[in-house]
Amino acid sequence: MIRIAVAAAGPDIEPVYAKAAGPGYLALPSPYSESPGDLLGRLNGGPVPGVLVMDSRHDADLCLALAGRFHAEHPETVLLLVTDQPEALGLRAMRAGIRDLVDPTADLAQVQQVLGDAVRQAERAAARQAKTEAKTPTGRVITVVASKGGVGKTTLTTNVAVALAQAVPHSTVIVDLDLQFGDVATALNLSPEYFLPDALESVASGDTIALKTRLTLHETGLYVLPAPADPAAADNVTSAQISQLLQVLAREFAYVVVDTSPGLADHTLGALDHTTDPLLLTALSVPALSGLRKIVDTLSVLQMFTERYHVVVNHSDAADGVSLRDVDQTLGVPVGTSIPSSKNAPASINIGVPLMQAHPRDPLVKALSSLVNLLLPEGVRLDARGRVRTKGRSRS
Ligand SMILES: Nc1ncnc2c1ncn2[C@@H]1O[C@H](COP(=O)(O)OP(=O)(O)OP(=O)(O)O)[C@@H](O)[C@H]1O
Ligand SMILES: [Mg+2]
Repeated sequence: MIRIAVAAAGPDIEPVYAKAAGPGYLALPSPYSESPGDLLGRLNGGPVPGVLVMDSRHDADLCLALAGRFHAEHPETVLLLVTDQPEALGLRAMRAGIRDLVDPTADLAQVQQVLGDAVRQAERAAARQAKTEAKTPTGRVITVVASKGGVGKTTLTTNVAVALAQAVPHSTVIVDLDLQFGDVATALNLSPEYFLPDALESVASGDTIALKTRLTLHETGLYVLPAPADPAAADNVTSAQISQLLQVLAREFAYVVVDTSPGLADHTLGALDHTTDPLLLTALSVPALSGLRKIVDTLSVLQMFTERYHVVVNHSDAADGVSLRDVDQTLGVPVGTSIPSSKNAPASINIGVPLMQAHPRDPLVKALSSLVNLLLPEGVRLDARGRVRTKGRSRS
């Protein structure tokens, strides 16, 4: 049954909507913020309603702002606005994703008609979504998490992504979730035209083809979604939008590789919701390791991936008083990949050519090739220089 939520209904319209909606009716109080999460929080964890009616007469600006964000985060919900000033609000309402404006004086038959149309549209959207979810296999989402800056997140993600893209053509997209200071585009020597917020617009409108045109293609065949050019733009990106973006990308690509900012920012948690392969990265230092321990504790409280951590130690040959054994013991998880220091790594970031693309004899390339081999399909392997071997032959 499609649920019809009516927010802030004035006493003049409330009984009409309750009657017209029947058993699917759900009364919500006035919104107090433009965050869909705040409004939905009042449902006490119940499912997102298929139809949301907002009586905008008390605060039209707030209702329109909320509608815009609701539409971006839950495009499958049909939005209706009750207003007595349709001329003044019409265009803004349309831009906010509102399907219909309803006059507050509408009688029962008219309200039944409007709600009936909205319910049919919501049913179609729900059926389409169920079909897509059931049919489309989803790719692997590989997210790197580290407690500190500078431990090698971007080095790890760009190299892994390039290696996957070279091994399996058209398979991989990298998403830069270090929204304020991300440098994935620089590490790949790209000057992108589109950035993450552009892709979010396409996701919100359900336009997968437009989404693909907003990705930047790297010469290795890797698709790239760079962080916003303006650090302030990060403030407008919600973790729900990130979750939705990754869901869509995972339907389109076999591998989605996600670079992050240090720690467990909201956006990173949104990504972890859809991550299949979390890479927990640390250096051999007490601050980095104790920070990662806190992250592991938080993830286990949230009951996220307790069995699926893959711990990666960078600069694993640095003898600064912390050993690989200490990492095992502190995290309670064995080290999966150790990356030694590489004299080529800093220059490769600066010139924008990942080592996995250049295939040098380098300890970092050897270590990452083993890691990437864990992710590749049967029959495709990387050798110690990151070159692709398919059925015994070299491809690059
Ligand atoms: N194994 C390695 N050997 C040598 N240098 C490395 C290694 N890993 C990373 N580096 C260098 O360390 C510096 C920081 O790496 P990187 O930018 O990947 O870290 P980050 O975690 O993404 O940092 P930030 O938090 O600032 O985004 C870079 O100059 C990089 O080339
Ligand atoms: Mg980085």
